[in-house]
Amino acid sequence: MYDFPADLADCANAVETALDSRLDAARLSGPGPAPERLVSAMRHGSLAGGKRLRPLLVRQAAAIFTVPPTASLTAGLAVEMVHCYSLVHDDLPAMDDDDIRRGRPTVHKAYDDATAILAGDALLTHAFGLLADPACHPDPAVRIALVAELVSGSGGGGMVGGQMRDIEGEAAGLSGDEISTMQAMKTGALIRASVRMGAILGGADARALAVLTAYAEAAGRAFQLADDILDVTASAETMGKATGKDADRGKQTLVATLGLDGAKARLNQTVNDALGCLRTFGPKADGLRATARYFASREH
Ligand code: IPE
Ligand code: IPE
Ligand code: MG
Ligand code: MG
Ligand code: MG
Repeated sequence: MYDFPADLADCANAVETALDSRLDAARLSGPGPAPERLVSAMRHGSLAGGKRLRPLLVRQAAAIFTVPPTASLTAGLAVEMVHCYSLVHDDLPAMDDDDIRRGRPTVHKAYDDATAILAGDALLTHAFGLLADPACHPDPAVRIALVAELVSGSGGGGMVGGQMRDIEGEAAGLSGDEISTMQAMKTGALIRASVRMGAILGGADARALAVLTAYAEAAGRAFQLADDILDVTASAETMGKATGKDADRGKQTLVATLGLDGAKARLNQTVNDALGCLRTFGPKADGLRATARYFASREH
């Protein structure tokens, strides 16, 4: 029987341990030695905390194709490093201006803005170094496909583009459809990339990849809907970050347009959409099923 809490905890431990050893001055050095302050800020922004849900999705999608967790970890670390960089930059004064993340001071609070910008840049850059490493997958063609997937999920038509739309929306306002597009990009695109990278590691055929992509897109919508609901309903202590801020900043969210009950109904429907995509896989997709349900039931 699939055990979700055990899988979640095991993945989080594996990610923490691997990031701890990878984010080390010697391993981050190039033609010159990586500065201690930079390494320390990168570690602050990515160690000790985080649910590690994106590496979990990589692992669970790969598991459908019987790829063992150790063989999907490096790709999962790459996505997690991009995610952590996105949070470091998202919290900057020029963006959401947040002081607390994962229950600790944000990187720009613990260091300074310039250091936070550079730590994010370095996390992003080294994420792609992980995908280029033969430890990621022995076949260079697979590694190139993973790089292309992560570029697509994190670049201008993905996470970064979504963040641009989010910031533009604060001043200009967004329609319901525009909010959905923004969310599919800022949060959904990296979740989509995580699932697809797991499928790529597993050698999925075009049909399986299409079905898993549809799952991931629904799961990504559910994830950001839950984040926006929790901004209204949860405490800062539970979340490890400030809550109740979206409305104050004029953030365009589906809670603002549908109301809290409407957003909760949409969330349940979206999780069911995600689950519906997995029918063809049977019990092999129990991990992805549990994670989609968790996206709606999570309390932080
Ligand atoms: C928070 O993501 C930012 C969003 C994309 C909404 P998570 O809720 O996955 O944050 P961590 O990694 O667990 O801290
Ligand atoms: C963050 O969305 C999305 C990215 C970092 C790409 P939010 O701004 O809602 O995330 P939180 O609430 O600060 O974690
Ligand atoms: Mg934001
Ligand atoms: Mg934010
Ligand atoms: Mg939020």
